[in-house]
Amino acid sequence: MALISLRQLLDHAAEHGYGLPAFNINNMEQMLSVMAAAKKTDSPVILQASRGARAYANDLVLKHLIMAAVELYPDIPVCMHQDHGNSPATCLSAITNGFSSVMMDGSLHEDGKTPGDWAYNVAATGKVVDMAHMVGVSVEGELGVLGSLETGKGDKEDGHGFEGTLDHSQLLTDPDQAIDFVAKTKVDALAIAMGTSHGAYKFSRKPTGDILAMHVVKEINKRQPNLHMVMHGSSSVPQDLQDIINKYGGEMPQTFGVPVEEIQEGIKYGVRKINIDTDCRMAITGQIRKVFAEKKAEFDPRSYLKPAMAAMQTLCETRYQQFGAAGRASSIKAVPLADMAKRYKDGAL
Ligand code: G3H
Ligand code: 13P
Ligand code: ZN
Repeated sequence: MALISLRQLLDHAAEHGYGLPAFNINNMEQMLSVMAAAKKTDSPVILQASRGARAYANDLVLKHLIMAAVELYPDIPVCMHQDHGNSPATCLSAITNGFSSVMMDGSLHEDGKTPGDWAYNVAATGKVVDMAHMVGVSVEGELGVLGSLETGKGDKEDGHGFEGTLDHSQLLTDPDQAIDFVAKTKVDALAIAMGTSHGAYKFSRKPTGDILAMHVVKEINKRQPNLHMVMHGSSSVPQDLQDIINKYGGEMPQTFGVPVEEIQEGIKYGVRKINIDTDCRMAITGQIRKVFAEKKAEFDPRSYLKPAMAAMQTLCETRYQQFGAAGRASSIKAVPLADMAKRYKDGAL
């Protein structure tokens, strides 16, 4: 199946009431793990690459990895998405490298550390929508800055993440503004700020409503039930993965992620895309540490990458099932991007 747009996948997810994990990939092993999990559970796939991933893997290599995913698994619908594009130029270069979806993250300026104001965000995001929709590529925007409601701080991912401390008015998406932002920019999906942050160190305790603001999701959904929301920073940071890493020489301080049951609650209220990177990183790292600790004479990378891939595959299968995406791939018929472009042009989307 050819690459399809995020919009097609999220419309399908909304119609049938499920959510889709979006897994970050940087290399062949992560791509193969996601695809094997999707095949096993008959799930539609969102693969996403950050700017850091594109720099790490090289655009040409990533492009061929995507093509390999599509060719290896012709029955699985795949969307390839730019995660946290920091400018229209980044989004355009993703499109020219074969991505079928982009995120313009105008919550921060191009430097990735200064919060962008309303006018900047609307202008930059709107510009990307104008370009992307012409070729049927979908666009995710972000309103509100991701960061912890406990500390007021964000986590730096490869140079992306604000500096200093922000207050709750910046760390929580305003529901009325969210509706206005979508109307003005015409984004296909909106990432919201609700107390989640990137990385493993999200919460100092199992989150309750004061630090994981599920009410933001519900308020937005009440105002516009058909709006597709995106939860970033949504790794659950499972205790068993923390334990494996620490058992084999890691030193991760105790930490808490986003509970799966909170994500499942969000899915009932319009959350359609759930971004997961950290959990996959942890699944991989735990197994690599285990091989390093138990087989000290081993030096073939395949001996630790194979169990690492198996652990990531298991994690992905579990999330596909938990979010209700399992069993959905076979009911999706690819809409070519050119047809999506026509639908945008005709005002049908
Ligand atoms: O944006 C968050 C993802 O975890 C990507 O992380 O920029 O280190 O690739 P990265
Ligand atoms: P995690 O760090 O929680 O996996 O979030 C990833 C993410 O939001 C990528 O955009
Ligand atoms: Zn993110």
